[in-house]
Amino acid sequence: MKAVTWHGRRDVRVEDVPDPTIQEPNDAIVRITSSGLCGSDLHLYETLGPFMTAGDVLGHEPMGIVEEVGPQADGLAVGDRVVMPFQICCGHCWMCQQGLHTQCETTQVRDQGMGAALFGYSKLYGAVPGAQAEYLRVPQAQFMPIKVPEGPPDERFLYLSDVLPTAWQAVAYADVPKDGTLLVLGLGPVGEMACRVAAHQGFRVIAVELEAERIARAQARGTEVIDLSAVDDVAEEVRSRTQGRGADAVVDAVGMEAHGSPVSKMGQTLFNMLPKKVSAAVMERAGSDRMTAIYTAIDAVRRGGTVSLIGIYGGQSDPVPMLTMFDKQIQLRMGQANVMRWVDDIMPLVTGPDDPLGTEEFATHRVPLDEAPTAYADFQTKTDDTFKVVFKP
Ligand SMILES: NC(=O)c1ccc[n+]([C@@H]2O[C@H](COP(=O)([O-])OP(=O)(O)OC[C@H]3O[C@@H](n4cnc5c(N)ncnc54)[C@H](O)[C@@H]3O)[C@@H](O)[C@H]2O)c1
Ligand SMILES: [Zn+2]
Ligand SMILES: [Zn+2]
Repeated sequence: MKAVTWHGRRDVRVEDVPDPTIQEPNDAIVRITSSGLCGSDLHLYETLGPFMTAGDVLGHEPMGIVEEVGPQADGLAVGDRVVMPFQICCGHCWMCQQGLHTQCETTQVRDQGMGAALFGYSKLYGAVPGAQAEYLRVPQAQFMPIKVPEGPPDERFLYLSDVLPTAWQAVAYADVPKDGTLLVLGLGPVGEMACRVAAHQGFRVIAVELEAERIARAQARGTEVIDLSAVDDVAEEVRSRTQGRGADAVVDAVGMEAHGSPVSKMGQTLFNMLPKKVSAAVMERAGSDRMTAIYTAIDAVRRGGTVSLIGIYGGQSDPVPMLTMFDKQIQLRMGQANVMRWVDDIMPLVTGPDDPLGTEEFATHRVPLDEAPTAYADFQTKTDDTFKVVFKP
């Protein structure tokens, strides 16, 4: 089959790889009809290379049609239309029972000290072949696939794999008080969807972004946006719009490759030049995040407010402003989205007639797998207004 594979920093290719097969009795094979490109893939493209192996199949936002089922993939049948969460989880362990599917004790990658395995996300997360491919082997198929109805287009449901529950959890963890204000940093797919979710739930939303097209896109849906490149001090600007206090809660939907950290960017460039064995060890111990967004979040949240980190941070020893965090008594919550925990909350919104979260017009680019190298490059540099890419294998 055809698949998108990783080969090095800013080097993805489309190659023929062996078709996946059933390996465990509770596996299924799904023929992919739509597969998203995520901001998290950009970390593999740029900074997490030390944890990748040449030829790894990328992608973790899959939907398609069940092609084959193992004898213990109960409840699933050939021909079912399904979406898979980006994390691999069993549904019956202690963690899954708490709604913490990203910590699944059946699939935890213990030799790396990490949580649940993820599709297409480096050896840190189990080196599981990913979903930007024609076919996908789905482990834990007795639980994971989310069955969706026939009829509406794929994109109504595709984002249940990641963007929707991720945005939903970001807003839930932000714990915005009634009539409160939520600040969302970053208007990539995750941040913009978090704005949509929060507005739908009745909160005032202010967003921060620097890319003109992304600002315009959010404004077109009525979001109040601060243009990062037009203000000196984002937190001060936020306070001026919130009676001097700051936002009740902040979602950081930027993560570890934030714009505006020149010094650590230089560190990153040097780091990328290290031999792979050395850089993996450095990354694990020393960390190399660009911390602008989290600092902005800590500054812009009001005293006693909540910061919800949904953008990914991967360094191990980043200095955080503990003095200010403690003094302001802020609450900090974070983690990968527990997809299955939120699906029942979101499903009525994507199956209803009026598509309140705008899933059908969310993607900007629908392309065949062959165009993956260009799609990755354009998504990273935001060329050609690339916002959300959906591969159609
Ligand atoms: N926790 C999870 O489960 C989960 C799931 C999916 C994605 N993510 C993470 O969420 C983050 C966003 O993902 P995405 O798909 O929206 O990616 P993206 O890279 O398209 O979005 C990031 C946006 O932040 C903007 N930005 C950069 N620096 C900024 C700054 N200092 N202030 C404000 N905005 C800034 C960028 O211009 C961009 O629009 C990534 O870190 C991704 O890995 C996490
Ligand atoms: Zn993702
Ligand atoms: Zn589990």
